This record gives sequence, C-alpha cells and structure tokens, in this order.
Amino acid sequence: MRTDVAIIGAGPAGLLLAHLLAQDGIESVVIESRTQEYVAARIRAGILESSSVDLLTSVGLGAGVQAHGDEHRGIYLQWPSERHHLDFVDLVGRSVWVYGQTQLQADLVTASEAAGRTVFYDTSDAELHDLETDHPFVTFTDDAGARQRIDALAIAGCDGSFGPSRAAMPSDKRDSWERVYPYSWLGILADVAPSTDELIYAWHPDGFGMHSMRSATVSRLYLQVPNGTDVADWSDDAIWDALATRLGHGQDGWTLTPGPITDKSVLPMRSFVQSPMRHGRLFLAGDAAHTVPPTGAKGLNLAIADVALLAPALGRLVRKNDFALADAYSDTALRRVWRCEHFSWWMTTMLHVSGDPFDAQLQLSQLRWVTSSAHGAAGLAENYAGLPIGF
Ligand code: FAD
Ligand code: PHB
Repeated sequence: MRTDVAIIGAGPAGLLLAHLLAQDGIESVVIESRTQEYVAARIRAGILESSSVDLLTSVGLGAGVQAHGDEHRGIYLQWPSERHHLDFVDLVGRSVWVYGQTQLQADLVTASEAAGRTVFYDTSDAELHDLETDHPFVTFTDDAGARQRIDALAIAGCDGSFGPSRAAMPSDKRDSWERVYPYSWLGILADVAPSTDELIYAWHPDGFGMHSMRSATVSRLYLQVPNGTDVADWSDDAIWDALATRLGHGQDGWTLTPGPITDKSVLPMRSFVQSPMRHGRLFLAGDAAHTVPPTGAKGLNLAIADVALLAPALGRLVRKNDFALADAYSDTALRRVWRCEHFSWWMTTMLHVSGDPFDAQLQLSQLRWVTSSAHGAAGLAENYAGLPIGF
C-alpha cells in the first residue's frame, strides 16, 4: 500500500489525526493491534478541556459532546470537614466537559467509517523502517495472517505507552524522564446517579478519593490503593465504605449513594516524557510520547493537543515538502506537555497520602491556599480547564 501518512494506533490520537489530515486532503492508513470492539470498550478518560471541545466542534466532531456531554463550571476540592468549590468559569473564563473517552472513541469511529477511511484492526508485529529517509514504511501482519507493507511520506506513532514507535527512535537520539508513584487507583464504574453535580477530589488520611461521572445514571469513582493491589481483594461493600469515608458521607448533610458496580480495575500511576517527539519522518503523538498520572485529567487532552499541532505540520510536509512546522513540532508540543506533566504531578502529590506526616501537613496547607487565595485558585483553574492549544 502507498499513502501519505501511516498512523500506528487507532486510539483517540490516531483516529483524530486521520480525521484532521483528511480535512486537509491528506490520505492516511491506520493500523491497530487490538480488535475494534476492544478499543471501543476501554474505559478511560472522562474530562475534556474547553479547547479540546472547541477543536472537536471546529472539525465536525462536536455533535456527541454537545448532545451527551455535560459542561461543568469547576470541581470540588476537599479534605475532612471542608469542601470547597472552584469555579473555573469565574476564575479563568473556561469550563470543562464530562464526556467519556469511550463516547469520543465511538464518535471518531463513526466519522472514520462514514468517510471510508482505511483502518486495519487486530494487526500484529508492526515494524517501522527507514525513518531517516524520505521513503519510510511500516510492515505488519493483518488479521488474516498476511504480511503487509505501507509506504508513506511520514509515520505517526500514536500507539500509546506500549507501542513500538517510541522505541523505534535510536536510543542515542532520545531522552526520557520517568516518575513512578508509590500508589495506584482502584476505579469503579457504577450504575447509579452521581451523588454530586461536579467532580469531587478528596484528600483523606486513608488515601485519596474521587467522585467522577459519565452520565446522569452512571458514576465513576476512584480510591487510592497501594501498588500491587488485587481488585479481587476489594468487595463491592468495602469499596463503597471506603468511598463514603474518604468522600465525606454525612459531612454537612451530603450523602454518597452506592449502586451496582459494573467494572473494577486497578491503574498504576506514572509520569513519563520522551524527547524529542520526532525522529526523521517519524512523529510521536499522545501517550506514545508521554504519560501523566490521571489526577489532572490531562492525558486525553494532551493527545488531542498533540495531533492538533501535528496535522498541519504533516499537511505542509506532504503537500509542499515544507518542513517548517514539522521541524518545530517537537519543541512546540513539549512545551505544553511539560506544563501538563507538572500540573498532573502537582495535583497527584497534593492529593495522595504518602504516609509521611510532614507531607500531609504540606498538602493540607497547599489545599487551604488553592481554595482560599484567588491567585492559587486561578492557577489550578487555568491548568485544569486547559491552556490554549498553541500554548
Ligand atoms: P491510546 O488511547 O493508548 O491509544 C493507542 C492505541 O495504539 C491503542 O488502541 C493501542 O491498542 C494501539 N497500539 C499499541 N501498540 C500497537 C501496535 N504495536 N500496533 C498497532 N497499534 C498499537 N486522560 C484525560 O485527559 N482525562 C481523564 O479523565 C483521564 N482519565 C483516565 C483514566 C484512566 C483509568 C486511564 C487508564 C487513563 C486516563 N486518561 C485520562 C488518559 C487517557 O486515557 C490517555 O492519555 C489517552 O487514551 C491517550 O490517547 P492515545 O491515542 O495517545 O493512546
Ligand atoms: C474520570 O472521569 O475517569 C476522571 C476524571 C477526572 C480525572 C481522572 C479521571 O482527573
């Protein structure tokens, strides 16, 4: 096969990039190692920044968010006996949207199918070749077991944290930074109306607790748990009891309503950045280049911001053999990536207990400051609601 851009990975970064390129008249072929059903069912992010929603709307992908998303003005931050609302709209003039990654993924698949774009699912053994030449190519095995080759002018590595693109960059030409946190999240999805109008992030001596949601009838909640936790060790009752304690059931008349749990999983927490995000004709986007712990709700939004920068760069490369934007891509994207890395690390270390009593006092002091100082609150709001795509 021959195409303009070969895209590895059909997650949000890969499918959105294919959509943006097509709007610019650029052809692409996407390959994905999982089945379409598996990718569609993965439960992940829940929050879109306003700039992500604006971008999706501007390229004809906003109907789902507008119809089924829920616009939130802010979040609650709390610790035992105190809950504070941060109103992002008042603080920085921007809101966020509750819209599940599964819903966005479905919108992207619908758009991809409607446009008849080529996506190979259930592939294996993807390999990247000749990245330093002007005729790079990808080889892979398709779902029928046949070896295939895609020749392209550029390759987009949108294959998440475990794909081959990251490692296809020569080790002496890349740097990476990593932080592994000493805790994980136990996440549940429950068929029960949310007990809150906006997300609650709760510091508690037993560990962080969080109340998010997917719709008027589906709640998403998280508990800080030790690394290595087995979900089987947590009964549904134990989860709801811990959530009630950490989220402050009974505090000022607030109650947490439990319901049937439909999904349970444990998520380790990691920060990671690989730089540069480009080698020759290979460009990394989304989780392929960076990972954030989920506390700042940045991972999906960063993937969207990366491809919003990458699409015009590849457009100019393909149409005019003009490398100006392609050459600038890595530095421009990394500026925003590091801002989000810092914010995600900061939210994570402010809200998760480490077991060290000195840390706990610093965390509570920080929480009091961001909830009582207009400047502290505005800093959190500006980062959470999202900086402009071109930041
Ligand atoms: P992915 O979604 O990982 O997609 C990469 C794709 O590449 C996958 O489909 C994978 O199967 C495919 N692939 C891998 N290897 C190969 C290969 N060899 N060949 C072909 N294809 C391959 N982010 C937020 O912004 N807000 C949140 O609220 C939030 N909450 C989260 C909660 C959880 C529980 C988790 C796990 C993540 C959360 N995130 C959140 C992060 C967010 O889900 C990711 O950052 C996002 O999925 C990144 O998109 P991506 O397309 O870059 O990578
Ligand atoms: C979610 O709804 O899954 C979610 C929301 C906000 C976060 C992390 C996860 O910070």
